[in-house]
Amino acid sequence: MNLKESFKSRRFLVGLLLALITLTSVAQQKSNNRMTWFEDARLGIFIHWGIYSVNGIDESWSFFNGYIPYDEYMKQLNGFTASSYDPEAWVRLIRQTGARYAVLTTKHHDGVALWETKQSRLNVVDSTPAGRDLVKPFVRALRKADLKVGLYYSLLDWSHPDYPNFTKNETRYEADSARWERFVKFNHGQINEITREFNPDLYWFDGDWEQSAERWRAPEIRKMILENNPSAIINSRLAGYGDYATPEQGLPSKRPTEKQWELCMTMNDSWGYQGNDTNYKSSLQVIRIFAECIGMGGNLLLDIGPKPDGTIPEEQQQVLRDLGRWTAKHQEAIFGTRAGLPEGHFAGPTTISRDSTMVYLFFTGDSGGELMLEGVKNRINKAVVIGNGTTLGTKEFLRPSWSSHAGVWFIKVPEEVLDEKMTVVGLSLNGKLELE
Ligand code: GLC
Repeated sequence: MNLKESFKSRRFLVGLLLALITLTSVAQQKSNNRMTWFEDARLGIFIHWGIYSVNGIDESWSFFNGYIPYDEYMKQLNGFTASSYDPEAWVRLIRQTGARYAVLTTKHHDGVALWETKQSRLNVVDSTPAGRDLVKPFVRALRKADLKVGLYYSLLDWSHPDYPNFTKNETRYEADSARWERFVKFNHGQINEITREFNPDLYWFDGDWEQSAERWRAPEIRKMILENNPSAIINSRLAGYGDYATPEQGLPSKRPTEKQWELCMTMNDSWGYQGNDTNYKSSLQVIRIFAECIGMGGNLLLDIGPKPDGTIPEEQQQVLRDLGRWTAKHQEAIFGTRAGLPEGHFAGPTTISRDSTMVYLFFTGDSGGELMLEGVKNRINKAVVIGNGTTLGTKEFLRPSWSSHAGVWFIKVPEEVLDEKMTVVGLSLNGKLELE
C-alpha cells in the first residue's frame, strides 16, 4: 500500500468510526428523549371518575375505612349513568387549559373498571346503567386533539375475591399462593388489555404500597408495557419501576432531587366529585401553585371529578377556564421551559427556556413597581412583558468595570401591564445563562 492509499483507508476508518459514534449517540438520545414530551408538557389534567361520584363520597377509601359498608358502596353502581358524558367536550375543556396530557382513572382501588374488561364483570359496561366503554371514546378524543393519553390503574383491588386485603380491618387471607397467583393473572390481564386496547403514552399506577415489587411482578409489568410501546412513560407508583416521581397534595418547598416529577393535586379536597366539598382553591391560588411547580422543574397534574352523569362541575370548569386564559397568554414562559433559577436570585418562581437564553420571572401584585434580580452574570438585552409585548426599562447596579461579580438588576414594571392574576416578564440574555 503506498502512502496515498494508506491515507485514504485511514480516512475511511476514521469516517466509519465517526459514523458509529454518531449512530450510538442518536440511539442514546432517542431513549433519553422518551421523557421529553413529558418535561415540555408542564400541565396535565387528572380525572377521577367512578361510582363514588354517585353518593359523592371518598373514592374507594370510604368503604375501606369503614365510613360506609362495602355493599352500600357498591349500590352506587346503579346510579352511575354517564348519561351526559361527552368526551369531546371534556377534551375541548382540557385543551383550553393548555394541558398537554390527561390521566383518566380506568380503575380505582374499588375495582370498578371504566372499560369493558374481559377479566371480570365488575365494569361499567356489565354492571352499571352507563352500559358502555367509557375509556375508549375519551382516548380517541384526546388523540384527535393531539393530546397525550394517560391512564390511571390501581394495582391493588379491594373488590377482587383473590386480593388479600379487603378493608382496614378485614383481610381475605394471609398467605395463599394459589389465590395470589390467580390475582396476578387477573391484574396482568387487565394491564395487558389497557396496553393493547388503548396503548397509552403514560401509565399512571397507584396502590403499589400494599405489596412488594416482587409480588406485583413489577419488572414484568414494565417489560410488557415497553415491549408494546418503547416510548411509553410510567409514573413512580410501580414499586420502584417507574420513570418519574409523584408527590401528592404537597407542593415541594425545595426543588426535588428527582429529575422528573409531577405534583398531583385536587381543586378542592376531593379527587372524585363530592358536592359537599366546596373548599375550592381560587384560580389565582392554582396558578401560583402551578408556577411554583414549573419553576422547580415539575409538572402539575390538576384533578377534576366529574359527576355520575359525566358532566364536569361548574366550579371546576371555571378554574380550568381561568387557568387556560392565563396559560394561553404566557405559553412562551410555560410550555417547553425548564426549571428556573435556584433560590436567592429572584423573589418568586422563574423558568428558563430550553436553550437557556431566556429567563422568565413570575410575580403577583405590583412587586413594588420594580423587580429585582441578583446573581445573573449575563447582560439583559431586553425585558418584555409576556403576552403583552411591552418592553421594560432595566438598570444594572453594583457592577463596576473591574468587578467580575454579577450585578443587581432592577426592572420597572408599570401598573398598566400587570396581569390580573400573575404577570410574567421575559428577559433575553446576551447568551446562555451564567449564574454567579
Ligand atoms: C392516592 C389515593 C387515591 C388517589 C390518588 C391520586 O394514592 O389512594 O385515592 O386516587 O392517590 O394521586
